Amino acid sequence: MMKTCKLCWGANVLLIGVVAFAAYTLILGKPAEMAEDGRTSIKMTAAEKDFVLGEMRGFLETVQAITADAAENNLEGVAETALAAGMGSTGGEPVTLIAKLPLEFKSLGMSTHQAFDDLAATATDTGDMDAVLGSLSDLMLNCTSCHASYRFDTDESGS
Ligand code: HEC
Repeated sequence: MMKTCKLCWGANVLLIGVVAFAAYTLILGKPAEMAEDGRTSIKMTAAEKDFVLGEMRGFLETVQAITADAAENNLEGVAETALAAGMGSTGGEPVTLIAKLPLEFKSLGMSTHQAFDDLAATATDTGDMDAVLGSLSDLMLNCTSCHASYRFDTDESGS
């Protein structure tokens, strides 16, 4: 006869609880507070802020390169540059940072990477530079609306 392992049940329930909580905080992020300038302040360590701002400068470089290609009517260049900032470029973010980002922020960030993939597809499929510039303008509404809503602040307590 098998003995019921009460301790195992307890450990399992505890484990499920811990995993569920970790998933919950990772997906939802921390509740953020309002800064004096009216934007939502996302608190992180100085190193995390350096990391995410570095990604941002990468976004700006991408947008610059796309407009340069567009000015030369180089659709292939546009597609190549846009793809490099697409969904394929995500995944390097530290988990500790992801857990600090509000859900809405994360989805806006992801949809921006997706929009670069869509831009590449527009360049390749339509061959129409006006359509490409229209998509780029739409994509950049993600940049401007996120910047209007959020700011990063450091919180050296770390969590
Ligand atoms: C999901 C939100 C979000 C999206 C989307 C986003 N940004 Fe940002 N970005 C931020 C935040 C927050 C900051 C910090 C602003 C602050 O603290 O004042 C920032 C900062 C920056 C900076 C300053 C970097 C530095 O070194 O200080 C640049 C440049 C930038 N973003 C470019 C872009 C561009 C270009 C896009 C679109 C292709 C973009 N961002 C999309 C949230 C976003």
